Amino acid sequence: MTYPHAGAARAYLFNDRTVEGYRRAMAAGTERVAERIRRADRPFSGVSPERLAPRIAAIDLERPLHDQAAVLDELERVYLRDAVYFHHPRYLAHLNCPVVIPALLGEAVLSAVNSSLDTWDQSAGGTLIERRLVEWTAGRVGFGPASDGVFTSGGTQSNLHALLLAREEARTDASPARLRVITSEAGHFSVRKAANLLGLGPDAVVTVETDAQRRMRPAALARELGRCRRAGLVVMAVVATAGTTDFGSIDPLPEIADLCARAGAWLHVDAAYGCGLLVSRRRRHLLDGIERADSVTVDFHKSFFQPVSSSAVLVRDGAVLRHAAHHADYLNPLRMAEQGIPNQVDKSLQTTRRFDALKLWLTLRTMGPDAVGELFDEVVDRAAEAHALITADPRFEVVTRSPLSTLVFRYLPQEGPGRELADDANLYAREALAASGAAVVAGTKVDGRHHLKFTLLNPETTLDDIAHVLDLLAGHARRYVDELAPPADHPGVTHVHA
Ligand SMILES: Cc1ncc(COP(=O)(O)O)c(C=O)c1O
Repeated sequence: MTYPHAGAARAYLFNDRTVEGYRRAMAAGTERVAERIRRADRPFSGVSPERLAPRIAAIDLERPLHDQAAVLDELERVYLRDAVYFHHPRYLAHLNCPVVIPALLGEAVLSAVNSSLDTWDQSAGGTLIERRLVEWTAGRVGFGPASDGVFTSGGTQSNLHALLLAREEARTDASPARLRVITSEAGHFSVRKAANLLGLGPDAVVTVETDAQRRMRPAALARELGRCRRAGLVVMAVVATAGTTDFGSIDPLPEIADLCARAGAWLHVDAAYGCGLLVSRRRRHLLDGIERADSVTVDFHKSFFQPVSSSAVLVRDGAVLRHAAHHADYLNPLRMAEQGIPNQVDKSLQTTRRFDALKLWLTLRTMGPDAVGELFDEVVDRAAEAHALITADPRFEVVTRSPLSTLVFRYLPQEGPGRELADDANLYAREALAASGAAVVAGTKVDGRHHLKFTLLNPETTLDDIAHVLDLLAGHARRYVDELAPPADHPGVTHVHA
């Protein structure tokens, strides 16, 4: 299809006269993606930034191609060919899930209709659909009829929003420098970001120690709550994590809720990752106690198989959402609230906002929650099998067994020079694997040492895939130890070069 040239810009607008062009463009784009997905034999091409950057820099943005096929050909070269494909069973790195088709349909519909979920007059049914989904999710959490919430762009924003509400609810004259947020040492870094954005002091976030399974120790929390009280500090929130990013560990929610209740502290549960358990028929009990939270973060784009972005912050008492409300004459005058015209902007940190909820709506209406839970249960089962596999493998050491679907481990041969060189060898193995594109795994540090991490979120990943990736990692690490490690008198890590 050839687009009209300059002067006929209106032909690009999506309206009643251009629906044929829309149909053809969507079909052509869908076809390209479908072919890529069908043919992908690796999660990643292994391209380096040095190789890819010149291709993108060379595009002259002042000279449009006016031709859809040419545009898509170019897109193949600058993006599709070298993208990282989360649907591939050997993508084992971060908290990115493969996505379900009903949600992709939702994505296509929501961007074409382009509702904005700030006001009724920009969304109509979209506002009501989002509200039903908030109500549904809050029901799964175990919140009562007073609960509420709003969709957000992701866990980072949901955590920020929750902590903003917590700060306002602390209703204290204490200076921001005296406010504290307690989380575990395995909590997500977005808690620190939020504290910064909220103007709290540099010491605002206090981390308490975890047990061997990397769960917050209630005794350590109790100690810290006592220390803050004695020091005249105000604990404006305790952030428990239901599914830590590295270990998938779930903090002991009932004990933490007891301690928060006694101390009068706001309890936020960051269930960005663990929220998939809300629809699990076999493991919902792992979230017991979450219903006692004041606020909860859920990331549908992590464990509900939804495309980025799709997240929500939920609160036990919907009235607290007023702390984020501001009224503008042009948009959401108080009069509208008094007239009972529903809007979501009064609850949100954003103004113009995507109708991400539609993806979850079509997912639930097509597959149903049990099917989503089944997919999540499958990856949790696979992680347990993989844990047994790595534990029995003398080439590796595993840190802990996750109740969810991560595996943190490292190459650590039982004897020989590989033991001393393990730190650099693990770093090298991860880079070399990524450069080959055969699989993508993550890395993290545990007690100051480089480790490797699998985050399993794809039910299509088999135990054979995992065994194969372990062999590849061990091969790269061994090669580093045997051939590439710099001599002891010239220390330094050898990196993979493009
Ligand atoms: C436990 C936890 N909380 C919050 C976040 C932030 O979520 P997002 O990346 O959607 O902003 C993450 C991301 O990995 C996470 O693992």
